[in-house]
This record gives sequence, C-alpha cells and structure tokens, in this order.
Amino acid sequence: MSKSKKPGPFTLAAHAGFDPASHHGTVNPPVYHTSTVVFPTVELLERGEIKPFEGMRYGRVGTPTSKAFEDAVTALEGGYGAVVASSGLGACCAALLTWLNAGDHLLIADSVYGPTRAFASRVLTGFGVQVEYYDPQIGADIKALFRPNTRVVYLESPGSWSFEVQDVPTITELAKAQGIAVMIDNSWATPVYFKPLVHGVDLSIQAATKYIGGHSDAMLGVTTAPDREIYEKLKTGHVTMGQSAGADDIYYGLRGLRTLPLRLERHGQTGLALADWLAARPEVQRVLHPALPGDPGYALWKRDFSGCSGLFGVLLKPYSRAAVTAMVEGMTLFKMGWSWGGFESLIVPGFHLPTRSARTWGEGVLLRLHAGLEDIDDLKADLVEAFARLAAA
Ligand SMILES: Cc1ncc(COP(=O)(O)O)c(C=O)c1O
Repeated sequence: MSKSKKPGPFTLAAHAGFDPASHHGTVNPPVYHTSTVVFPTVELLERGEIKPFEGMRYGRVGTPTSKAFEDAVTALEGGYGAVVASSGLGACCAALLTWLNAGDHLLIADSVYGPTRAFASRVLTGFGVQVEYYDPQIGADIKALFRPNTRVVYLESPGSWSFEVQDVPTITELAKAQGIAVMIDNSWATPVYFKPLVHGVDLSIQAATKYIGGHSDAMLGVTTAPDREIYEKLKTGHVTMGQSAGADDIYYGLRGLRTLPLRLERHGQTGLALADWLAARPEVQRVLHPALPGDPGYALWKRDFSGCSGLFGVLLKPYSRAAVTAMVEGMTLFKMGWSWGGFESLIVPGFHLPTRSARTWGEGVLLRLHAGLEDIDDLKADLVEAFARLAAA
C-alpha cells in the first residue's frame, strides 16, 4: 500500500493481511486444519517456533489462517493486534472475564446483547463481580456511577433491539481518566463505519458471525486491542480460557471481510430507505434507526459514524399477537431468524420487549429487521403484503 496515502476502507478490506509470498503465491491463505504441530528439536519445541510463522505451537493458539484474519481485522480497526474467538458471544465473555476479578465493579450498558447481559448477570455476579447496568444515553453523567473499584465500562452502540447511540468519546475519556478499561461491542457498525480505538477504547469486539462473515454460515468472534500491552493481556486471556475458532470459519471470516465495505454500503442504503418508508406507514408507531433524522441517536451517529448498517427496529402500534404472527409468518423474502449481517433479509417479532433495568422504553410489538442484499422494491412488496395480513387478522 502507498506510503504517502492512508488507504481507504475498501483498499484495506481488500489488502489487509494479504500475504501471497508466505503461501506459494496464493491470494488466499491456506486453511490450516491442525491441532498438533511437531518440532524437530527440544529447543524449538519449547520456544514454539516453526518458521516462517513463529508462535505456531498448537492449533488452539494460532495458525497462519487465524493470523491472516487477525491481521486484516487489526488493519481495519487501526489497532495493534486482534484475537479470534469461537463466536461473537465468546469474544464478549472472554474480554470481560480477562479484565474482571471478584470484588470489581462493572458498568455495562442496559442495551447490551441479551446473552452478554445474561453472562454478566448470572456468571460474573456469581463470581463476585458487582454488575451495574447504565442508561446507554447517559453520556457524561456516567462519571457519577464510577466507584473506586470500577474496572470496566462495557458499551454496545447502537444498543441491541433499542438502537441507542452512546457518546463513546465522552464516556471513554472519563473512564480512562480514572484508569477504567473501556470495551465495546461494535458489531453493528463494524470498523468500516466506526473506529472505537481512535476514541481511546481499549477493546473493540466484533461478532464476526454478522457482517464480517456476511454469509450466514460461519460462527466467529474477534477482538482488537490498540497496543501491545493490552493485546498481550487479551491473547493470554483467550489462550488461558481455551478460546479459539475453527479453521474453516476463520477462512470464511477473512473471505467475508474482503467484501465487507461493499456489502455494508448496500445493507445500509436499503435499510435506511426501508426505515424512512416504514416511518410513514400508518401501522408504525416509531422506527428505531440512528441514521434517520429525528432519531434520538441521530446527532451522535452523524458526529461519530461514517455510515450505517442494515439492522434497525420498528415499533408497531398496538396489534394482537395473532395479527403480528399472521404478518410475519407469511413473508416470502424476509425470513424469521435470530441473526443478522448475512445477505438475506430477516425479521424477528419481539413480543416481549428485551430486559431493561436502567430505563424504560416503548409499549407495543417491536420488530427487528435486517435489510439484506435483495432489490428494495421486492422487499417493500413483501412488507406491503405483510401489512395487509396485519390489518386483516
Ligand atoms: C450485538 C451482538 N453481539 C454479539 C452477538 C453474539 O454473536 P455470536 O452469535 O457470534 O455469538 C450478537 C448475536 O446476535 C449480537 O447481536
């Protein structure tokens, strides 16, 4: 890459971690399926050194395939080093477990991904960590929640299901001034649209299962650290806890990453256009999409993000469960599924609004939509038919 010009996101995604010279000229790295690595001498066995990839000791610890993926993610995030995990949730839990000890206080956003919340409430609390949920719109007021034993502030922005945007630079600055580590689940924006490390965040976590993989097949997580010290702590944590990922899934993660900016552009455009169109529908109470002018998170999104992805929420006016069921069960393009970030559009009805303890929000049935790569007119036609079923039920 050019020495005089900083590469753009498309160039970075296409070239980061790209190392044909180490792989007999092949564009993609080979998929190293390995548990066992053998060494010719005791000295090399002890050092874990097989050239040209030093550090290749055992499959779980790393391979040239995982290194290629981690290098590519590191470049996109603008960090020092990244570490893969078996899933997005695995990455979130490994980061928290590595940084927290019994007696520590954790501030965690009220709007985090449900299973991350369950991990904090059940597992971390059981280990003696004091878990406190904060309002994701708290901004500078988070300072009042800091205690002498606060060790981590854990953010997710925008939040799961409710899509609040957090003031990441302000929260990070305040936390860092007190020596508190800051972690963020950045899966919605990916490093293409938001770069947490630039704002001083210590760990940027990706559920690579979502947009990075992008094809609804691989399960993968990856966390990036800004400097050597934090990277080594992160890597040691993963190795100690047995976190690693399957070789094929890592390969799919890297393959997906090559087209990430291109796909995100399309997901974002379609999602925003659908959100705008849905906001004008009579059946809709409110659309939750931070890139929609008028959304409570719009100003922060505009200030900090360079784009939006395709996941957003739609709060319906009061309709019966039967009517909403008729609406979503008959869809042809929007499929019902718990994930997002793949090429296909998805819709999930939230009949029970997700758990919140720091703030209350809306009444009604919340739909979560993921805009896939289909033609928008086809997606709108699917939704128009769905609204007709909602009205008829
Ligand atoms: C925001 C967020 N973070 C983390 C995860 C967990 O990712 P994975 O399913 O790969 O464990 C998800 C999954 O839906 C998610 O939505």
